Amino acid sequence: MIMPALSSDLEELIEVDIALTVRERQNEILRASVAADGCIVVRDGERLVAFVTWDLGFFNRPFVRLLVVIDSHRRRGLGRRLLLAVERAAAAYAELFVSTEAINAPMQALLAVHGYVPSGSIDNINAPGNAELVFYKRLSE
Ligand SMILES: CC(C)(COP(=O)(O)OP(=O)(O)OC[C@H]1O[C@@H](n2cnc3c(N)ncnc32)[C@H](O)[C@@H]1OP(=O)(O)O)[C@@H](O)C(=O)NCCC(=O)NCCS
Repeated sequence: MIMPALSSDLEELIEVDIALTVRERQNEILRASVAADGCIVVRDGERLVAFVTWDLGFFNRPFVRLLVVIDSHRRRGLGRRLLLAVERAAAAYAELFVSTEAINAPMQALLAVHGYVPSGSIDNINAPGNAELVFYKRLSE
């Protein structure tokens, strides 16, 4: 079941340990994205197993901020489905940006398979030697 997040999902979203950013930042992103209708969740029965958040906070462009599938549910196409859901939601903007750490091979593989191309990198976001890589996809409406 893939659906827009409701405010009642927030507590469960915050419980997901994503280890991508510091807790406070993760919580801020989740609160803001749920409030702005920029969060989509996947449930397996009652359990929240994956989510994506996006907003216009990257040079006023649509930008995927967090895409997370819990360990037990990876490699079942959920990451791909959530990315496609954001592509549909952002179609009116005709473009979508995503970023990930240089060390994140799974995310880079997912992006490469789905037509995202490199769009630069940012130092000083993560630990030295682990640049934040930006990717871009042109969307057609
Ligand atoms: C990156 C992540 C979202 C991928 O989610 P997922 O649901 O496992 O991905 P999918 O099943 O949709 O994979 C689609 C395709 O991407 C590629 N891919 C995904 N994970 C991969 C991996 N670990 N190794 C190689 N290729 C991978 C494959 O081509 C895959 O297709 P296939 O399974 O038919 O070979 C997931 O690993 C995750 O949540 N990681 C931790 C959080 C994170 O790093 N998020 C990204 C930065 S915000």
